[in-house]
Amino acid sequence: MKLRLPLTAIRTKMLALFVSLVTLFVLLSGFVWYRLTTSRLEREIASRLLSVAELGRTNFSVDLVDELVRSAREISPAEYGQRYTYRSALNKIENLQASSQAKAIHIFDRHLRILASTDTTLVPGYVYPLLRSYRPELEAVFAGRGQASVRFEDEEGKVYQSAFAPLFGRDPAAADAAAPSSTGDIATEASVIAALGVDLNVAYLDILGEFKRTTVTITLLGIAVAILAGLVFARTLTRPLTDLVASAQRMERGDLGAPVEVRSGDEIGYLGAAMEDMRQGILRRDKHLRTMLAGVAHEIRNPLGGIEVFATLLRDELTEDDERRQHLKKIILEVHHLKTIVNEFLVYARPRQPVPEPFSLNAVVEDLRFLLAGELAEKELDLLMDMGGEELHVYADGDQIKRALLNLTRNAIQASRRGGTVELRARRGGERVRIVVKDHGAGIAPGDLALIFDPFFTTKGSGAGLGLSIVKSIVEENEGEIAVESAPGETTAFSIALPAARGAADRFRSAGAPPGAPLAGHSAAS
Ligand SMILES: Nc1ncnc2c1ncn2[C@@H]1O[C@H](COP(=O)(O)OP(=O)(O)OP(=O)(O)O)[C@@H](O)[C@H]1O
Ligand SMILES: [Mg+2]
Repeated sequence: MKLRLPLTAIRTKMLALFVSLVTLFVLLSGFVWYRLTTSRLEREIASRLLSVAELGRTNFSVDLVDELVRSAREISPAEYGQRYTYRSALNKIENLQASSQAKAIHIFDRHLRILASTDTTLVPGYVYPLLRSYRPELEAVFAGRGQASVRFEDEEGKVYQSAFAPLFGRDPAAADAAAPSSTGDIATEASVIAALGVDLNVAYLDILGEFKRTTVTITLLGIAVAILAGLVFARTLTRPLTDLVASAQRMERGDLGAPVEVRSGDEIGYLGAAMEDMRQGILRRDKHLRTMLAGVAHEIRNPLGGIEVFATLLRDELTEDDERRQHLKKIILEVHHLKTIVNEFLVYARPRQPVPEPFSLNAVVEDLRFLLAGELAEKELDLLMDMGGEELHVYADGDQIKRALLNLTRNAIQASRRGGTVELRARRGGERVRIVVKDHGAGIAPGDLALIFDPFFTTKGSGAGLGLSIVKSIVEENEGEIAVESAPGETTAFSIALPAARGAADRFRSAGAPPGAPLAGHSAAS
């Protein structure tokens, strides 16, 4: 059974968890840091604005304030703008603005009527409605306490922050609703009849904006670093797991050669060691089984040889018309078949290491035609050989490859319908030679495709089921690959790719040997 594991799952989960936790932390701390710093900055700005307002108020005597409030109330704005008192007040706040770098400074009465302003868009004598948004601050100011507003933004994103200081006067008409002041340095009968407001300079806002941008950049950088660190972290932690999965997949493919190497001092390491023990156990059992099988096959092969010899002797002693001769012929045929199976068992049970050498594939393929002539003729089959019109040289164990191709072609013959064609094609592609054995026979059921390379899997009454498992191990031992494609009821094509022997073949040609002859004796080069 093929396991389809989502191999990145744990890594992805770890990464997601790590990154989301760190992101949450970075975002939260960024937010808290931003809020804390801006509120501190806000408080500092407020206190600075307030001290500018308090400083400004000392320039305005009770008489001046009285005069300003009265004339703004009694005469028209146009006339008021011409007054000396107004000019002197404007001069004072302009000087204050220049020394404090405030955005604007205004003085206004309890009706929010502008008495003087450094903002040229505000006409003196007229009410400045925006001041209404500072209601709580103004209530405190007209009660005699200097007050700074909080920072706020309007819909257009413009930021406002101001501070206000009370201005005292004695004008009874202006102070009708005002409570008497308790401030010691002002005459007791004086009350707050106007106020001085200082607006925040945009430069401070720039600092805030820049601070916001810096915080966002640092937060984003923090998240990026978290993702990077998370990747490295998840990779390091899951590497032993990935190695373990790779080992399990190798074992699942039947490749028990490579040891399970997981160096990790935790549970994963323990699992790796357990898997390695398991692998060695399977190898030991496999070896034991093969030895047993080889012993049995060997014991059977010898008497079979004797039976064959004596049956042949007996047959030869009988005359042609003796009907017992036919019986003996059948015995000899069956014994021959048994011997083939026993030989397969032996090859499977005692695999030998390949001895790679450059050899001519064309010569091997010609041998096949000769070896399979009887089986081909019996089913009236045509063997089509197509080597692309050239001599192909392979670097592998020639005898083993011949055995593999023999098995594949024999299977193809067995699967073919009488009178059909078996195709054997080979082509060179880069450093590989690809050989395809194709038949137009029964095909392989999709459910069987994953099983056909397993030892002892057969759908034939008389087969041992060892042919393809031998083919597969031969191809893999010779650094090749094998693949199969089949359309049930139509065709089956086995293709194997083997290392090409270009260098050796070239040397061989230059030595003047005839093409097609085996290249044994030449050293490997591919
Ligand atoms: N060309 C083919 N067309 C259809 N089925 C095939 C073909 N080649 C192999 N098979 C299927 O794969 C199975 C295994 O093949 P394999 O050669 O290993 O064993 P076998 O031919 O049954 O027996 P053995 O080769 O040991 O005599 C076959 O029994 C058959 O079902
Ligand atoms: Mg077979």
